[in-house]
Amino acid sequence: MVGKDLPLILALDTSNISEAESILDEIGGSLKFLKIGHRLFAQGGSAFITSTINKGFEVFLDLKLHDIPNTVKIALEEYLDLGIWAITLHTAGGQQMLEYAVDAKKKLGSCTNILGVTVLTSHDEQSWEAVNPGCGMKDALIARSKACKNAGLDGLVCSPIDLPVIMDFAGVELMKVVPGIRLNAGMDDQKRTNSPIDAIKRGADYIVVGRPILSAPDKGEAVKMISDQIQEGLLWKNRL
Ligand code: C5P
Repeated sequence: MVGKDLPLILALDTSNISEAESILDEIGGSLKFLKIGHRLFAQGGSAFITSTINKGFEVFLDLKLHDIPNTVKIALEEYLDLGIWAITLHTAGGQQMLEYAVDAKKKLGSCTNILGVTVLTSHDEQSWEAVNPGCGMKDALIARSKACKNAGLDGLVCSPIDLPVIMDFAGVELMKVVPGIRLNAGMDDQKRTNSPIDAIKRGADYIVVGRPILSAPDKGEAVKMISDQIQEGLLWKNRL
């Protein structure tokens, strides 16, 4: 089995849309979920989102919205109209901002999953402390995942390393979408990483993978290796 039937989301972090299209020509047949971020959205806007959905993909629009509640709400009234699978908000915006987002979803009767980003996977304890002095990362994770739950969000985004804390304190019922996946750790800006199999075993419902696929010499082989690990992790979980 390859990625199409598995909870694998490709982070389509390419330089431009034509590069994204040629990657999809190469490996798109084995994928169902694509994460589109600021760069391709800035280039292609909603037309690009719609054409990607029309090709049969589920689109996860990762804009990490973070603003005053009303501004997030009125922005969502536009984004939720696109028919995307999921969109992210940054939980640093606070519970009221998350609640306003849920109001927008209810108002539109939208099926899009609204996900709260907890703590970026690129933070380590030191970089976290530098911008959140005196607030432990674990405390922030717990408070932010509780805010997602209390506001009625569909899920959250967290590092694979954070999954045990999330599972213990607030995240069991929430969908957990997990970036920071590495086959080999320590090569780039991502700090709190784990392998696909361990992320699934720890409770990830979906994993998000960008560079380990996009920078691989054989992208199809990278998708297969990751898919094999996801399957192994799911088999392990189903045996529990
Ligand atoms: O290339 P890589 O696998 O690191 O890509 C991870 C993707 O997930 C990037 O697009 C990044 O913006 C996104 N992401 C993340 N950490 C979060 C939320 C989103 O790495 N907490």
